Amino acid sequence: MNYNNIILEIDDYLAFITINRPKKLNALNRETIAELHNAFRDLEGDGNIRVIILTGSEDKAFVAGADISEFADFDTKKGSELAAKGQELLFDYIENLSTPVIAAINGFALGGGLELAMACHFRVASKNAKMGLPEVSLGLIPGYGGTQRLPRLIGKGKAMEMIMTANMITADEAQNFGLVNNVVDQNELVPLCEKLAFKISQNSSTAIAAAIKSINANDNDGVNGFDIEINQFGKCFGTDDFVEGTTAFLEKRKPNFK
Ligand code: COA
Repeated sequence: MNYNNIILEIDDYLAFITINRPKKLNALNRETIAELHNAFRDLEGDGNIRVIILTGSEDKAFVAGADISEFADFDTKKGSELAAKGQELLFDYIENLSTPVIAAINGFALGGGLELAMACHFRVASKNAKMGLPEVSLGLIPGYGGTQRLPRLIGKGKAMEMIMTANMITADEAQNFGLVNNVVDQNELVPLCEKLAFKISQNSSTAIAAAIKSINANDNDGVNGFDIEINQFGKCFGTDDFVEGTTAFLEKRKPNFK
């Protein structure tokens, strides 16, 4: 498939998606969101892909937010639709993928950019990265899940402060907050993500999918995450990966998951 705003590269089990609007600091316009949705959907359907790394092009920005020029004249109805559609197509969509998605935050991750990184399963940042939710400085609030995912990741008090002040935090601060897992020099960002992806790829993809479902259940009101875990745990016993994993252990060899 041809894309205008993203670059999709596949290397064996690993897919790289690079958001590629560097002149606009990779801001998310409607077309980019649609392309990202299609790319994630196709990769999820490709049984060979075990991990996806999402990053921004060049060295300044991961994503500097939703494209402000596209919604500057919106009214209440259009604003609600923008948020609902974006969450359905991209933010909630990524969070609920069975294929692990790592955000490689290579620069500014602001507004919808930080919300996109937070929708990924975990985050790694380069030292130059800056993160924030500046929406209240525009008379808005985060609309792509930021008011929900940020407090879950860093706690309510820090999330309140970040959202109310609209301040940007450094990569080191983000690591202290638990928002990103690692901080490395920019040239080490992709190699570190590749190393993590390799480690993930050695494990059972069906078990990883079950783990994602169970961990995400913790975020859903009215859903008992312990029940989901019991259900997913039981299902694992019916998989080929379970047979291979336990057999390999007993035979003192490495498992070879399909
Ligand atoms: N939407 C649309 N365009 C954006 C954008 C966004 N979220 N973020 C950056 N851009 C565009 C700028 O308008 C500029 O385009 P131009 O060259 O055609 O004028 C280009 O990207 C470069 O940005 P610029 O502001 O000149 O870079 P800078 O280094 O001076 O500042 C930022 C970098 C990230 C601090 C600044 O771009 C910024 O504050 N962006 C908006 C962040 C934001 O509020 N995001 C939340 C949106 S809900």
